[in-house]
Amino acid sequence: MCNKKKVIIDTDPGIDDSLALMYALSSPEIDVIGLTIVSGNVPAKQGAKNALKVLKFMNRLEIPVYLGATTPLVREYVSAEDTHGLDGLGESGIEEVEGNIYPDAANFIVKSLKKESGVSILAIGPLTNIAQALQLDEKAFANLERLVSMGGNFKSHGNCSPVAEYNYWCDPDAAKYVYEQFEHLGKIVEMIGLDVTRKIVLTPNIVSYIKRLSPKKGAFVEKFIGFYFDFHWEYEKIIGCVINDPLAIAYFIEPSLCEGFLAYTTVETQGICIGQSVTDEMNVWKKRPNSKVCIQVDARAFMVSFIHRIFGGNEVEISSVLQQIMVQE
Ligand code: BDR
Ligand code: CA
Repeated sequence: MCNKKKVIIDTDPGIDDSLALMYALSSPEIDVIGLTIVSGNVPAKQGAKNALKVLKFMNRLEIPVYLGATTPLVREYVSAEDTHGLDGLGESGIEEVEGNIYPDAANFIVKSLKKESGVSILAIGPLTNIAQALQLDEKAFANLERLVSMGGNFKSHGNCSPVAEYNYWCDPDAAKYVYEQFEHLGKIVEMIGLDVTRKIVLTPNIVSYIKRLSPKKGAFVEKFIGFYFDFHWEYEKIIGCVINDPLAIAYFIEPSLCEGFLAYTTVETQGICIGQSVTDEMNVWKKRPNSKVCIQVDARAFMVSFIHRIFGGNEVEISSVLQQIMVQE
């Protein structure tokens, strides 16, 4: 397909990041020009190793991987190894992969934006690399096509404090910086937060189904998904797991999957609400909107696309199977 959209995926793989990468690499509409790795779920070095494992599995080792920030801009780094396992991939023991890991993610982002217009960034980890790229050369962002950020929450409760979502909680200063600079630049952050991602639940039944569609890819996912299931059962009493990150990729490709509204958003960097995204829905602050905050999602349409693209199968059949096995509203 010509006219593929060029994207950089900024990621911290990560179990749901890995599913997001599998989805992106199965999507003909996009050309992934590089992966930039940020410390989040696991330290960036480990995340980069995991990215190589997914690229190798998907036969896409030609995509360059760039190492990014090792720590948040200001606050002390706290990983999410309790959620994703010490290796970030559910302690699955997936074999290490030989491959190049290049330095300086922020520089790669800036260079890519300067080289041509039409590049988008899909950020599915803390926003440290994006903030650093903005600090390096804010003007380069004039060329940016779109920034989709998985992070934050509008009305939904948080997932690592009562009010904060992990990516923004991990580096609140970076998140605030990106939102505020985007206001100055006249740009929009498209926010895929917990209000929509909580609706995207991968259940054991769906995993059984994808194994039938593609035994090889199903077995790969099964290696790391069990750890995520256990975490969700222990902390949220969910049978299955919320897969946040693939929705950001799917929404980028098909924006009609989510509905949202334009408003000004910033992020708290101090105190008990640290990491909370604050959206001025009623425009009390009279600021220019710097975000599109997504609050509704067609979860079934997402899941059909997720299964069809990665694992194959006919969309009509997938839809009817999901009718039987998907968590209903
Ligand atoms: C986000 O935090 C991480 O644990 C996930 O990979 C996702 O990007 C969800 O809050
Ligand atoms: Ca992530």
